[in-house]
Amino acid sequence: MAIKIKSSEEIEKMRVAGKLAAEVLEMIEPHVLPGVTTGELNSIMHKHMTEVQGTTPATLNYHGFPASSCISINQVVCHGIPDDKKKLKKGDIVNIDVTVIKDGYHGDTSRMFEVGEVKPFAKRLSDVARECLWLGIEQVKPYATLYDVASAIQKHAEKNNYSVVKEYCGHGIGADFHEEPQVLHYATDELKNIVLNPGMVFTIEPMINQGKASVKLLGDNWTVITKDRKLSAQWEHTLVVTKDGYEIFTLRNGERPYLPNNH
Ligand code: MF3
Ligand code: CO
Ligand code: CO
Repeated sequence: MAIKIKSSEEIEKMRVAGKLAAEVLEMIEPHVLPGVTTGELNSIMHKHMTEVQGTTPATLNYHGFPASSCISINQVVCHGIPDDKKKLKKGDIVNIDVTVIKDGYHGDTSRMFEVGEVKPFAKRLSDVARECLWLGIEQVKPYATLYDVASAIQKHAEKNNYSVVKEYCGHGIGADFHEEPQVLHYATDELKNIVLNPGMVFTIEPMINQGKASVKLLGDNWTVITKDRKLSAQWEHTLVVTKDGYEIFTLRNGERPYLPNNH
C-alpha cells in the first residue's frame, strides 16, 4: 500500500466534499445551546446532509458506528455517540466531527463549541488545541515531512502543559474515509520518512488533553475518554499539499488561521 496522489479531477471533488462538510458545522452552530441533546444535533445534521446537501454521512454504519456525526463532550476525547438522552449544559466544551461523502469523495472536519459561558481553563484548552491544528497545517508544503507537522503540534501542546493523545491520529482521505498515511500528532523518528508531495490529501486532527495523555475505551466500544477524566479538545481539517504549500478543503466561511500570539 502507498500514499495516493490525487489527480486534479479528484482534488476538485474533494474541494466540493470538504466545503459541504464545513457547511454542516456552520449550519449546526446556532443549535449548540444548553438543553439540546446530542441526539437532536445529530438528527439535524443527518437531515441537512441527506435532504439539503445530497451527501452521505460517512460515519453512519462505518465499522458499525451508529450515527451521522461524533459528538464528544468534556472528558470525551473522540467518537462520542449522539444520544437522545444526553443534554448539553452551560460550561461544557464539545467537539462535533462530521464526514460527508459527495460524488464518491470524503470531506472530514471537526471543531469545538462552547456551550454558554465556559470556565477560562476550558476555553484555554480549546484555544490551544486550535492553535496546535494551525501550527501543524503551517508546516505543510512539498518536501516537508509528517515529522515537522507532529513536532509543531506536540511542542505547542507541551509548552502549555497539555498532552497529545497517541492512540488516534489524522489520516489520508479520498475515495476511502481512512487511507495512508497515519498523521500522528506526536513526533516519532519514522515520521521523518513520510515526505509530503503535491496531491497528497490528509487530515490533521490533534486531540489535546488537559491532564495526562492516556485514554480509555468505554463499554460501548466507541466512546474514548481521558483516563484521568480531565478535559480533552480537538479540531480537524482536511487539506491537500499544493506546489508551494497547502489548500484547506474544509475551511468555514470567514475562518482565518488561528495561531498563537507572537508567532
Ligand atoms: N471523523 C472521525 C475522524 O476524524 C472518524 C469517525 S469514525 C466513527 O477520523 F466511526 F467513529 F464515526
Ligand atoms: Co473527523
Ligand atoms: Co478524520
